[in-house]
Parts: sequence; C-alpha cells; structure tokens
Amino acid sequence: MAAELSPIDKAKFVAAKQATEFVESGMKVGLGTGSTAAWMVQCLGEMVRDEGLKIKGVPTSNRTARLARDVGIEVITLDEAKWLDVTIDGTDEYDDALNLIKGGGGAHLREKIVATASDKMIVIADATKKVDALGAFPLPLEVVPFGLPVTQNLIEEMLIGMDVLGRDIVQRMQGGEPFVTDEGNFILDLHLKRIGNPRQLSLVINQIPGVVENGLFIDICDVVVAGHGDGKVTVRDITNNTFEVVQFDVLDDDNIFVGIAD
Ligand code: 5RP
Repeated sequence: MAAELSPIDKAKFVAAKQATEFVESGMKVGLGTGSTAAWMVQCLGEMVRDEGLKIKGVPTSNRTARLARDVGIEVITLDEAKWLDVTIDGTDEYDDALNLIKGGGGAHLREKIVATASDKMIVIADATKKVDALGAFPLPLEVVPFGLPVTQNLIEEMLIGMDVLGRDIVQRMQGGEPFVTDEGNFILDLHLKRIGNPRQLSLVINQIPGVVENGLFIDICDVVVAGHGDGKVTVRDITNNTFEVVQFDVLDDDNIFVGIAD
C-alpha cells in the first residue's frame, strides 16, 4: 500500500534510496538519526530481507537502533565495529563546502563520533537543506547537566567575540522537561542566524568546560545526496569531485514505505 507523501518526504525518500547504492555486502555501516535516515534504514532493511544484503549496522541513537532491529539489520556497537566503511546520515543544513549543522534530533554527539570513525560520510537530505551560509538553523550544543548556568554564561561571553548575527541561547525542552540525550546530557540551541566562520566557532566552542560537542560537522562529510519532490536526486562527491543527477519514478508504489516512525 502506498502512503501519500508530501514533496519533502518524497525528496527525503529518493535521497535515502539513492544513498543505499554506496552500501555493499560485508560492510559495516553507520546508521544516522532523523526522518531522512529512517527512510535509509528502511531501504537497507528491505535490501537485507529481499536481496540478501549482509551488513552490520552501528546506530547513532537508541531510536535508530530500534528501527534497524525492527527491519532486520544486524546491529553492533561502535566498540565492536572499531571502524566503519560508510556512515549515512541526515542533516539540518549543508553549505557549498559540505560543512553541516546537525543535531536537530539531539543525536549529533554520537553522529559525529560514528561519522568520524568511517571511511566515508554520506549525507542525505531534501534539497531545501542547502544554504549559502550555515546558521539559520539553531546550532545544537550537547552540554553536561552539572553547572549548566555557568556553562551557558561562558558560551554567551564567547559568542561576543564571534562572527555571528544572533546570540540567543535556548535550552531544548520536551514535554515541559529538559530534553535529555542518549548520553544523559542536555541540549542548548544557539540561535546564531548566520555563522561567518564555522571552523573557528566549532573549535572555540568545544574549549568551554561543560560543552561535550557542537553540531558543526567541518570536513567530515564526503558526499551529499540531495533529493527533490519530483524524484530528481543529485549526488555531489567532494572527495572525487564528481556530480551526478539521477531521476526516480516516485509513482512506483513498491518503492514507498508506510508507517515510518521517527
Ligand atoms: C539528528 C540529526 C538529523 O540528521 C537532522 O536533524 C535531520 O533530520 P531530518 O532528516 O528529520 O530532517 O542531526 O540529530
């Protein structure tokens, strides 16, 4: 049965489907978090069930681990894997240099560890995630609960010297309570509007005691697979300097999953 998908969901689906081309039997695969990554996990699960694909998956969150097991992917820990062939994950923003803001789902700490432990990081996104300058999407910081007000003050002072347009800091909440990450930490969302120097900001933020990791992914992503609502997908590989356009027939109901829960 086919689901009625919005153009954005179709874009996410075709990007996820195309990215599975990078996965081969025998690989250890980092499995990202979020709605686009959920499509990718579903696609890989289908390949495991129907095509005999043999992979081991390292999930970047507890919810991705549950989904991966549900669709039949063998799940192992990063400790067991030690190193991965490829990680496929979503993003909140990407720029022309394929630098990213991630962490909209609060999983950027594990996502960055897993992506950095991979030969290749493939980002899957609907094409609206492409930006001229990072920062319109609030930058997530994972911070330890101990001394949170002190940490927040230090971040505010640090931002005064940074090339950013906004400086509001908001603690992420869920159901009236602080959002808690899989690692038991809190998230501060930095509303910076525009980040002039993402590389500098990423280095400086991580120097503040109490900050565990920020959501800027600098020089980590190798390939962006960007989907459009009409089924067009572009694949940009900055390591090999290639650009490819693929057209999907999104009316093919057999390719559309239903009941994706993120
Ligand atoms: C989770 C992430 C996600 O990859 C990012 O938020 C994109 O999510 P979606 O695919 O649902 O738009 O970084 O921490």
